Amino acid sequence: MATLRAAITGVGAYLPEYILTNDEISTMVDTTDEWIMQRIGIKERRISKNPLEATSDLGVKAVKDLLKKTKTTPGEIDMLICATITPDMPFPATANIIAQKVGINNAWSFDLNAACSGFVFALSTAVQFIESGRYNKVIVVAGEKMSAITNYTDRTTCPLFGDAGTAVLLEPTIEDVGVVDYINRVNGLGRHHLHMKAGGSLLPATHETVDRMEHFVYQEGQVVFKAAVSSMADIAEEIMLKHNLKSEDIAWLVPHQANMRIIDATARRMGLGTERVMINIQKYGNTTSATIPLCLWDYEKKLKKGDNVILVAFGAGFTWGSVYLKWAYDSN
Ligand code: UT7
Repeated sequence: MATLRAAITGVGAYLPEYILTNDEISTMVDTTDEWIMQRIGIKERRISKNPLEATSDLGVKAVKDLLKKTKTTPGEIDMLICATITPDMPFPATANIIAQKVGINNAWSFDLNAACSGFVFALSTAVQFIESGRYNKVIVVAGEKMSAITNYTDRTTCPLFGDAGTAVLLEPTIEDVGVVDYINRVNGLGRHHLHMKAGGSLLPATHETVDRMEHFVYQEGQVVFKAAVSSMADIAEEIMLKHNLKSEDIAWLVPHQANMRIIDATARRMGLGTERVMINIQKYGNTTSATIPLCLWDYEKKLKKGDNVILVAFGAGFTWGSVYLKWAYDSN
């Protein structure tokens, strides 16, 4: 019997119009374009300036783009998973809000919190529902309004993040394409080095937590950097070895876009030159769960049916993972 796989059959995205440049950031905190380019590799990022625009709105625009591109109606969708760490509100799930706003009324939906590994974890989850034969059309949204939790007086974190909404459609296939395998890992001790201190049940919001700026991203950059470099390179190599993939077999590496130096280290370990690595960190910064699908959307026209693609991510938690997939379609 032919193996049933889940394949990405379309990618949608939405980017807010406002471009926050390094030069503008240099007027807000003590930094320079040169430092940010050398140490991180980000030139600019998109920021939602509309106070009424939440993560669900970024997600809705991405889902509408996806439905249009794939000629799918909202009523055909069986399930929607939203990977985000910037939900519209702590509850209910942003996935439910997106589904309602788009008119996806015959489905169930839920949020998944794995920070920068959110897309990889949500994709791995969605795959189960397709491979089991239970569902035919599952949407994975990865969306973040990172500007809502970024402290623009902290030079160590504010250059890093951007806002974006992305969405992919997963459908079953019996062809030799689609998601072949994934490896996902977590280490809860990592929470000490990258988190948001207040606003949860451990430290509910008070005037004091607001005064202490504890409702923003807190990151110990160097600790996270070291863990990201080794974990991303290790898990990318692990999935290559497991599937006997040599570097020449890989058409594209799609790494999480947190820091150009982390991307370079991962590509080096995999024996790949930058011509086979999707990179758009310079334009959009770190959009957390959205970076990998944003790369797929950006490079969609270059992808060819049957291409071996490795996704690899690392994020707060700590969480990290890799996905091996064979691209399922030619664009145009
Ligand atoms: O996506 C989730 C996972 N997140 C990541 O993967 C991020 C991982 N971490 C990083 O990418 C890097 O650690 C950062 C980009 C956050 C920081 O770069 P770094 O090279 O590790 O810098 P550092 O934290 O070691 O700081 C070195 C110096 C410090 O000054 P002193 O103490 O040596 O005087 C910082 O205060 O650089 C200073 N610094 C800056 N200087 C100018 C930190 N941020 C800036 C800045 N502009 N924006």
